[in-house]
Amino acid sequence: MTALFNAADIDIDRITGRRRMRRNRKADWARRLVRETTLGVDDLIWPIFIIDGDRRTEPVASMPGVERHSVDLAVAQAERAAKLGIPAIALFPFTDPAKRDPMGSEALNGDNLVCRACRAIKSAVPEVGLVTDVALDPYTSHGHDGLLDGSEIVNDATVAQLVRQALVQADAGADVIAPSDMMDGRVGAIREGLDAAGFRRVQIMAYSAKYASAFYGPFRDAIGTSATLVGDKRTYQMDPANTDEALHEAEMDLAEGADMIMVKPGMPYLDVLWRLKQEFKVPTYAYQVSGEYAMIMAAVRNGWLDGDRAMMESLSAFKRAGADGILTYFAPAVAERLAAA
Ligand code: PBG
Repeated sequence: MTALFNAADIDIDRITGRRRMRRNRKADWARRLVRETTLGVDDLIWPIFIIDGDRRTEPVASMPGVERHSVDLAVAQAERAAKLGIPAIALFPFTDPAKRDPMGSEALNGDNLVCRACRAIKSAVPEVGLVTDVALDPYTSHGHDGLLDGSEIVNDATVAQLVRQALVQADAGADVIAPSDMMDGRVGAIREGLDAAGFRRVQIMAYSAKYASAFYGPFRDAIGTSATLVGDKRTYQMDPANTDEALHEAEMDLAEGADMIMVKPGMPYLDVLWRLKQEFKVPTYAYQVSGEYAMIMAAVRNGWLDGDRAMMESLSAFKRAGADGILTYFAPAVAERLAAA
């Protein structure tokens, strides 16, 4: 009995066949040498919330460290992105509730918040890529991504509205249109619309596998839809139980002309990310959504997690699972950290 606990009696080399995995972990230089994936600033897309006003900054309570910025300050954020080398930012508006209606008409106003921000940012920092979200939820009084008929979100009429929204954004200078609405056929319709209007170079990043997730909660606080959303989004966003369905969605989006695909949320769906990248081998992105950010930050604030390490580890996991890039609210913090390293 006691002999078993005696190191001299245990022949580890026989057990492992002389393989010692720890050799390659012995020092920082050795670990760096065998590292399979690396996170770099080129992997980052930074989502930014915008709000009406001048020199106005408002904290988002459920997302510590994240703020809504008026257009002038959003320009300053874009300049910060440029300085840090972050390739692209994604814009999300908090629309004045007085401007929301059942049709989401404000989405088609060429002078809405997103469009004004696009113009201002494009003229100040043209080298930063501008991603705009196509979906009606920041603009509808009921908080849905599409048009409501009774209790149904109607597909085809919504798609027509989304095409118009995409054109308005492209006209304002958006470089990448990112449809996050999950209507059928929207990628193809938007591509045709963009091409017909002469926006042939505008890319489409399709939210291909977007799940009906509880992790969007803080985002809905940020854009002011959590209080107004009627029901849920399960008739258009995907069932979290499914993965084959994600492949079909991505296949259709690519056939319809998507230049890039996305999985959302991120961390709970790394298996989906892996499958999509393995299957299609196209530029594939993950969205580390608001609830993932909030979870990490809440634990950090309680002193339960080392924030820096949790941030880097969570983002490295996306690279390991095959992501070509990550939309993350940590983008500026990561970029700063990478620049300091
Ligand atoms: C809206 C949209 C959502 C997010 C991005 N675009 C929320 C939703 O579908 O309700 C979520 C992003 C996040 O949680 O960080 N179409």
